[in-house]
Amino acid sequence: MRTDTGQVFKLEDYRPNDYLIPQTDLTFRLSPDATRVTAVLTVERRDGVSASAPLVLDGDGLTLKRIEIGDKKAKPADILVTSDQLTILKPPAARRFQLLIETELAPAGNEALMGLYRSSNVYCTQCEAEGFRRITYFLDRPDILSVYTVRIEALREEAPLLLSNGNPVDKGDLGDGWHYARWHDPFPKSSYLFALVAGNLGQLADSFVTLSGRTVELGIYVEPGKEKLAGYAMDALKRSMKWDEEAFGREYDLDVFNIVAVSDFNMGAMENKGLNIFNDKYVLADQETATDADFANIEAIIAHEYFHNWTGNRITCRDWFQLCLKEGLTVFRDHEFSADQRSRAVKRIAEVRTLRAHQFPEDQGPLAHPVRPRRYREINNFYTATVYEKGSEVVRMIRTILGADAFRAGMDLYFERHDGDAATIEDFIKVFEDASGRDLSQFALWYHQAGTPNLTISSTHNPASQEFMLEIEQSVPPTPSESRKRLMHIPLAFGLIGAGGQPVDYSGVEGASVEDGVIHVRKRRHMVRFSGVAERPAVSLNRGFSAPVTLSVEQKADDQFFLARHDSDAFSRWQAFNTLLTDALIAAFREILGGKQPVFAARLTELAGGIAGDETLEPAYRALALALPGEADIARDIGRNIDPDAIYAAREALALAIATANPDIFAGLYDRLADKAAFSPDAASAGRRALRNTLLDYLSLQPGGAALAVRHFQSATNMTDRAAALAVLAYRHHGSPEAIQALAAFETTYGSDPLVMDKWFQIQASVPGPQAVDTVRALTAHPAFSMSNPNRVRSLIGTFSSANQTGFHRADGEGYRFFSQTVLAVETRNPQLAARLATALRSWRSLEPGRQAKAREALLSIAKAENLSADLRDIVERTLA
Ligand code: ARG
Ligand code: ZN
Repeated sequence: MRTDTGQVFKLEDYRPNDYLIPQTDLTFRLSPDATRVTAVLTVERRDGVSASAPLVLDGDGLTLKRIEIGDKKAKPADILVTSDQLTILKPPAARRFQLLIETELAPAGNEALMGLYRSSNVYCTQCEAEGFRRITYFLDRPDILSVYTVRIEALREEAPLLLSNGNPVDKGDLGDGWHYARWHDPFPKSSYLFALVAGNLGQLADSFVTLSGRTVELGIYVEPGKEKLAGYAMDALKRSMKWDEEAFGREYDLDVFNIVAVSDFNMGAMENKGLNIFNDKYVLADQETATDADFANIEAIIAHEYFHNWTGNRITCRDWFQLCLKEGLTVFRDHEFSADQRSRAVKRIAEVRTLRAHQFPEDQGPLAHPVRPRRYREINNFYTATVYEKGSEVVRMIRTILGADAFRAGMDLYFERHDGDAATIEDFIKVFEDASGRDLSQFALWYHQAGTPNLTISSTHNPASQEFMLEIEQSVPPTPSESRKRLMHIPLAFGLIGAGGQPVDYSGVEGASVEDGVIHVRKRRHMVRFSGVAERPAVSLNRGFSAPVTLSVEQKADDQFFLARHDSDAFSRWQAFNTLLTDALIAAFREILGGKQPVFAARLTELAGGIAGDETLEPAYRALALALPGEADIARDIGRNIDPDAIYAAREALALAIATANPDIFAGLYDRLADKAAFSPDAASAGRRALRNTLLDYLSLQPGGAALAVRHFQSATNMTDRAAALAVLAYRHHGSPEAIQALAAFETTYGSDPLVMDKWFQIQASVPGPQAVDTVRALTAHPAFSMSNPNRVRSLIGTFSSANQTGFHRADGEGYRFFSQTVLAVETRNPQLAARLATALRSWRSLEPGRQAKAREALLSIAKAENLSADLRDIVERTLA
């Protein structure tokens, strides 16, 4: 990996390169330690650029073997070579010329998993964001679009399968056990979308007939023998292709679409043109090894990468500051896909929980940045919840403001106007302005300004004048390097609800523009007056989570209970109950800190039972409602002086109170939900399992709870139920013979299946309490664990540091010490993974003073290490700043 140069890249410094590379021909002669790459680049000087302008190509740790300019060997005086840059000092006078560059790589030793590497003896690539420069010298930036032809040569025995982007054009034998294949991709693309795969893989084949009647051959390639496990992914792919035609009019454009699953991968998956490469965790699944959550993730990620073919590949980003142009938009598209395939309400609640769990703390801490950042040191550190998830929320708000039809017209215009472009956020916003005639300039701040806006809202009703008033005030908290914020355009969906649960009509409204149930908040303060409202209504706010904001609402508990029972907007109904739970948990936290036993209102614990048994609600919805806010969620809402042990105690107390208040409802429902039909991963079946497993968690707190969980574990016919029971035993009955036996049985059954063992690591890493750090440290020596496989590291170390509040934040700082040592050990192999892990400490300033000091020491101990990578240094320094 490049060592840190400290260089800061700035949006305002963007300018097009003097040169273009319209054509790229690559030949790979593959071998684990000495792969030869011959790149023949057709270079073109831009109009108006002086012939003496040097051509500066990017590299990263490259070994140059040969270079020819035109068709002549380059003279040493004409070039300047380092492993990180190749400069052609005096390019040929002709506007168009050829450059031949030969490099030598060692894929087997590439543990950073960027560029060309080996995963379980399969050659594969990852080039986003700047991995292509680890393969050859190039203008490795997304605005350089090139047509690629790729020839791969390999030993047939080592790599019978040879894949690259585009369509296959040729293959044959080379003698001596070698063979080759040639691929051509007719669509000009950025270098980050280049991909190559070579190895011995099994294939699941299928086909899809597009909108216009073309047949596309589909292939999913996996470890030989695992083809059957790709069936669900294939089904999800075909549904994605169909959905993009129906929802966005987007048709696939090549003759083949291939997906390869590899076991060493830094993130979820990658949208390389015509050749998506996936973390095998997001491809392989059956009922025996995958949970319902795994199935849902596979569906979403298969869709996400496929949708990138239009939003990302056909229209790409001008530079990496525009990352949200493809990521936020594509997340929005995959969210909509999943909502259509599953339950829209349940999907929306799950999205908001994820946003709050990952994006809100980012926006509220030292790593906060705008959806479109203006500065970066290491672009890999900007594949964040802000760019992805908040980026998606911003697109959703555009649709809310424009309405579905104008939004679709804007998207159509985007595809029509920018197909083949490397575009910007300004281009994107413009198509919606042009399609709708609206001014989105204030709205555009959502892209440019970091921080989670807050709305403070209070309401009054005047029966004499029949007026209902909402006073709304917006504020955006300061974030690093943005101390003063501008006023934003916030679309706030709302509803007024009468005593019988019916919507309340009003005869007029003033004080803000209100359209289709949305208040457009644009000023610092609005006094919104609804006239003709005879009785005081309950007000439902931010319906469907129309804006990613926090709310400070003066609302009576009675209203909150009323909304939790009667809000016709499913999201807001869930939100009302969730707010009641959060308020109760925060009150309990304060009582515990004051040395008191918390008590919970009976109407709250009884409402939990009421929701559980409400057959008018989908089971998946009920499961989400009954899942208490997580410890980190509670910490975020408290905001400062966090003592994770007191939060844990509060949460346990509420769980017990709910379980104790509803034993019969929960037990009866638990029995009735037992699935008698054959397993199906569909949303309704998964919802029933989710509800039953949530009930098991409560029931396990009652006498006989461990025995019930053991029965659940032993009679499980799928991984969802088995893993849920194991988690209940491990958390609720930690150290009991039942828990120890179940963990051992699970290990015996699945010891040789790495993806299933990840669940075993994850469950143990999240067991609360001071012993967790020793458990996790011991598990790093387990034969199934590996410090160089990202999935293993994330399951054990990532879970411990980001999902085990009491264990990680152990008061004596031992969790942090273990963590900083581990991050440094990971970093020597894989800086990107280490940097991602290190973000677990981003909220350290909200801890109580003792833990805060210890967390700071741990961060400093990382910062002090020598030869830190750009990736890790960037995160640690920003976190400490
Ligand atoms: N574009 C990929 C996706 O969202 C993710 C690539 C992340 N790359 C990285 N170097 N962090 O589907
Ligand atoms: Zn993406």
